[in-house]
Amino acid sequence: MCGCACNTKKEDVKVQVDTGRVCELLKKYKGRRGVLVHALQDVQKEFGFLPGEAIGVIADEFDLSLAHVYGVASFYAHFYFTPRGKNIIKVCTGTACHVRGSKIILEGLEEELGIKAGETTDDFEFTLETVSCVGCCALAPVVVVNEEVSREKNPKKIIAILKNKKEENDE
Ligand code: FES
Repeated sequence: MCGCACNTKKEDVKVQVDTGRVCELLKKYKGRRGVLVHALQDVQKEFGFLPGEAIGVIADEFDLSLAHVYGVASFYAHFYFTPRGKNIIKVCTGTACHVRGSKIILEGLEEELGIKAGETTDDFEFTLETVSCVGCCALAPVVVVNEEVSREKNPKKIIAILKNKKEENDE
């Protein structure tokens, strides 16, 4: 459900897609081959995920079928088809991190946010995910917050820091 009292599920939340902006993003790829994944990355960077409407524009611009574009996008784990939170928190559950307590951190974050791994909070502030190894096992257990390895391991503090940042930005 979304944050209001309208009984809307998160999956039903529609994002207004500026198709003109999508075309603009795709301009640099015009006539080039082997650039579909780059184009998808650019569009995801702009919207935070790959809206269906944008995928339609990509298919048109590259003269490909929708099924082909979806097929390529769904092959890669880093493409998303539903809106994600403004803050992406990833807990590494690879062996080194698991041995050093990542499960406890994950459970703490789930409790703190009221969601399970793989979910987004109703206000779209946080998405919680797991990853298998981010390549810095020496720092285990690793939590990646918005693409940066967090020094903080305490779930309460991780969330408090992000909430404080939001408040500072809102002021
Ligand atoms: S197992 Fe977590 S960073 Fe490698």
